Amino acid sequence: MYDDVLDLYADADRRLPDVDPHGRLMILSCGIALHHARVSLAAAGYEPAVDRMPDAGQPSLLARIRDRRARPATEERLAAYRSMRLRHTDRRLFADGMPVPDEVLTQLRVAAEAEGARLHPLQQQDVVYLGYAAQGAHTVGAHDARAAAELHRWTHRGADAPDGVPVGTVAGAADRPVPLRDFGLGDEAALPPGTGDDTDAVYLVVATVSDEPVDWLVAGEATSAVWLTATTQGLVGSPMSDVIEIPGARALVRSLLQPPGQPQLVLRFGLAQTAEPPVSPRRPASDTVTVTERRTIGEGV
Ligand SMILES: Cc1cc2nc3c(=O)[nH]c(=O)nc-3n(C[C@H](O)[C@H](O)[C@H](O)COP(=O)(O)O)c2cc1C
Repeated sequence: MYDDVLDLYADADRRLPDVDPHGRLMILSCGIALHHARVSLAAAGYEPAVDRMPDAGQPSLLARIRDRRARPATEERLAAYRSMRLRHTDRRLFADGMPVPDEVLTQLRVAAEAEGARLHPLQQQDVVYLGYAAQGAHTVGAHDARAAAELHRWTHRGADAPDGVPVGTVAGAADRPVPLRDFGLGDEAALPPGTGDDTDAVYLVVATVSDEPVDWLVAGEATSAVWLTATTQGLVGSPMSDVIEIPGARALVRSLLQPPGQPQLVLRFGLAQTAEPPVSPRRPASDTVTVTERRTIGEGV
């Protein structure tokens, strides 16, 4: 039995208050971090036990992880760990004529379900509606001056900033069945989008049965599990939360789900045209991890 405890807290000061007024995306992002931590521990040979939202009096304490047992790291766990370091959001057009195989979609669905969420791949006709939702979200978002200003700040954090979305990772204008968030950058979007029409992209809705903060956390864990599996299978992708942020767009996405559910994020995956992904900065661990008591894993067994 190990005594080491890892507590995961949401840092409300880092929420984007106008884009994410309820903290859904903040908690979903923390769920991604939680799954990444579980993957790291599993790759190091531990079996993490997780309590989600363990203290009703402390809503910012999202999870408590304990290392209970040591176990050998399987090849699958090591692959997920490697994928964590490989994956980057890629907003460029995907390669034409190379659809995502059905068996890979099945693996992604299984990965989401293992985390307690659902993954809905959209059929061709539903992609048309997702396109309408994305256009609507874009139009509504562009008229929300505060949210637009917040996104502008988020994309102009400066060359040395450890976070934000650099303009160099946002693909320039392209004809797509589903428009991606352009962050209000217009011609400033600096990444060549590539060629083709993006018709071989798949769109997957991460959904939960209910819509409470713990569901947002689970949706984040599922997002990470799906994305790492996709990376291991050679796919690249980009998330779309604009269609979740804007209530009308979200209602349209919700109407596409069968069985019914609560949409939490849309993931777009495909095969990259070129191997070089655009890279966003990542905060150093020292920014986000505080060690209050150091104890060597394995001590006191
Ligand atoms: C909850 C969440 C929502 C996101 N929504 C969008 C989005 O709507 N459009 C987009 O282009 N990227 C979106 N992103 C991608 C982030 O901008 C991206 O993860 C960030 O720039 C870090 O880059 P990386 O994924 O390469 O590490 C989202 C990411 C998260 C975690």
